[in-house]
Amino acid sequence: MPITLVGATIGSKVNFMTLGWITRVNYKPPMLAAGIHRSHYTIDCIKETKTFSVNFPSVDMMEKTDYCGLVSGKNTDKSNVFEVFYGELKTAPMIKDCPLCLECELVDTYEKLPTNSIFIGEIMGAYTEDRYLTDGKLERCARSLMLKTGSTRVVVTFFRGTPTTTPVPLFKT
Ligand SMILES: Cc1cc2nc3c(=O)[nH]c(=O)nc-3n(C[C@H](O)[C@H](O)[C@H](O)COP(=O)(O)O)c2cc1C
Repeated sequence: MPITLVGATIGSKVNFMTLGWITRVNYKPPMLAAGIHRSHYTIDCIKETKTFSVNFPSVDMMEKTDYCGLVSGKNTDKSNVFEVFYGELKTAPMIKDCPLCLECELVDTYEKLPTNSIFIGEIMGAYTEDRYLTDGKLERCARSLMLKTGSTRVVVTFFRGTPTTTPVPLFKT
């Protein structure tokens, strides 16, 4: 599983937590699921706006990624750890330094497991920068992030700052 950072907003504050338990769960529309422990502040944040982001950090962001997985937004303000930007949803904070950011709308929550809740989000937008693309594809970035997928997927509908309606293959095995 890739290591990600989940971003969400509560009041005027943004919060990020480190998340490894994440997977793609639906083809069309593209959806993902995240297993989040019920003690985490992120749950309150996601429930407030019903949106969240999933950001894929590069290896040089390991220290900050670790930090967000060690301290809780309940007692530590993590809103200044990263420079953020917003996409179409306006309430899902994404991390400028991450090679790949997804903004998601909460579709459903499964709360019957003993310790964790599963948040299912529809991916409404995916953002990257030109420097991570090779011939319009994210292959170089995907390799450096060690992402593993089963087959070609088409889910990218936006580049950061430059919305486009042309889908870009996000993953290629
Ligand atoms: C590498 C790493 C992966 C983690 N993966 C998860 C995960 O998949 N699910 C989860 O509930 N917590 C996970 N955590 C723990 C949370 O990130 C951590 O408890 C965090 O402080 C919660 O922040 P919050 O209270 O601000 O939401 C992980 C931590 C690290 C360091």
